[in-house]
Amino acid sequence: MTSGKISKIKERFLKEVEEEKDAGKKRKICKKYIEEDLASVFSLVKNLSGEKRGEVGRAANELREFITKKMEGEKREEVAEKARIDVTFPGTEPDLGSLHPLTVLQKRCEEIFQKMGFVVAGGPELENEWYNFDALNFKKDHPVREMQDTLFAKQKDRGSLSEKEKLLMRTHTSPVQVRYMENRKPPFRIIVPGRVFRNETTDNSHEINFYQLEGLMVGEDVSIANFRAVIGYFLQQLFRAKVKLRLRPSFFPFTEPSFEVDVSCSICDQKGCSVCKQTGWIEIMGAGMVHPNVLRSAKVDPDKFTGFAFGCGLDRIAMIEHKIENVRLFYSGDLRFLKQF
Ligand code: DAH
Repeated sequence: MTSGKISKIKERFLKEVEEEKDAGKKRKICKKYIEEDLASVFSLVKNLSGEKRGEVGRAANELREFITKKMEGEKREEVAEKARIDVTFPGTEPDLGSLHPLTVLQKRCEEIFQKMGFVVAGGPELENEWYNFDALNFKKDHPVREMQDTLFAKQKDRGSLSEKEKLLMRTHTSPVQVRYMENRKPPFRIIVPGRVFRNETTDNSHEINFYQLEGLMVGEDVSIANFRAVIGYFLQQLFRAKVKLRLRPSFFPFTEPSFEVDVSCSICDQKGCSVCKQTGWIEIMGAGMVHPNVLRSAKVDPDKFTGFAFGCGLDRIAMIEHKIENVRLFYSGDLRFLKQF
């Protein structure tokens, strides 16, 4: 055994580690050299004598130190390699949500009306009888109260409460007309998008809750002509097409005169399709000139001010827009449905 032999071992070792790329495997090579090659050198050194033993022993010790350092270096490298983050690697895609189709429609409606100077207003969903019915000119014994199947709140001694104390889930967004007007001075231009509730048996076109868009414009000379212009613009923007309007006489306690508004079917260009039920017209909203009694409820002078109001169902518009046949899908929370929007 000579120190020259040890240099040879070192050369062999260096060649072997250099050829290996993987830090873990490099470390294994180091281990092998210490435990096998160097261990046998040391066992031979013991038998050498005097000067030679010192010289070879020193060389062997130096090589062991060299390999040990290398081994520790590779260990650090190995750990670093495992912890290294490849910033170019594509990440895990987060499961992003999206806006509900009714929210998207509501926002679009708000934008269209805001362009015409309308303000978005709101009111409580848990309403009282006065705002929901009395203030809107529904007479106490008027059969129209029966027309709306109402979800009344359970209250102790309800019979002895005043109309303002009797609670119910609002059946329409119209009560916000009075709530908004009573604390402010005309002119008014508002829309009220919101959730309403009915005591319904559900089917494809009925739900116990749905969304409405209410509108109200009150001023000194507001007329049906203004209504036609505002609603014409709204529907044209909404359906992204030139549309025709048709007003048919109707009845609501809170408007006089009252009418139903039909819009020409832009899906079939009035040729007749399933959406317009072959009539060329789609019934889109109820509307009318605000009844003087409603203005009085809100402390607005009906001799000085007039106005129009309207209310439409957002669910129905969304169903037409997306050709959805079952209103209940909007409230099902079914991701297979929601992910399509
Ligand atoms: N509130 C009515 C309903 O729920 C809709 C409506 C009709 C609102 C005529 C109005 C209106 O403002 O003028 O059926």
